Amino acid sequence: PPLRPFSIRLDRSSLELLPAGPVLTRRLSDLEGLFADEAAWRADVDNGDPIVYTVASSPVPETATELPQSITRIRPGDVAGELYFTKGHMHPVAEGEIYLGLEGEGGLLLFDGTDIEFLEITPDRIGYIPPGWAHRSVNVGSNDDYSFLAVYPGGAGHDYGWVLEHGFGARVYAGAAGAELRSYPQPAL
Ligand code: 6PG
Ligand code: NI
Repeated sequence: PPLRPFSIRLDRSSLELLPAGPVLTRRLSDLEGLFADEAAWRADVDNGDPIVYTVASSPVPETATELPQSITRIRPGDVAGELYFTKGHMHPVAEGEIYLGLEGEGGLLLFDGTDIEFLEITPDRIGYIPPGWAHRSVNVGSNDDYSFLAVYPGGAGHDYGWVLEHGFGARVYAGAAGAELRSYPQPAL
């Protein structure tokens, strides 16, 4: 049945959406094949398999014409210097999406198969993801969680295979003077 209008409260201290919907937890083992250093990734998985991020959705469903929201919280950490990130995906139904920074320091890595963009997302900053750009979030802070609100079209879908095939054209590492974006040779589309 279609939804009736309703409001959602963003609790500023817990950064929860109330009423809450489903919560997804991604551990390091869920990010197989994504970090550059496979051996270091495996060692960290064997040594406790830490939580890398959670995605807490509002009750708005992911169905065509609805506009769901969720809060992603990425823990601080790295695998052999490569900062913790979300799996990243392309929306197969090409539609735009917005992110709003809530806490911590984040990076939004975007790749359209040719061009790379890297946006800094801090509290109260909105990142715009145009249709056709794969996106991945990175916690570039060294001690704190990075959290943001995402609002996206419910019929857009999530293609994770695209990222396994094409990558992001760049990786983000902890450097002496903060996060460092290192681009690598791009696989052919
Ligand atoms: C979305 C948003 C966002 C994203 C999470 C987790 O389309 O739903 O981009 O909510 O899903 O930040 O990232 P992954 O979906 O790439 O694991
Ligand atoms: Ni998305």
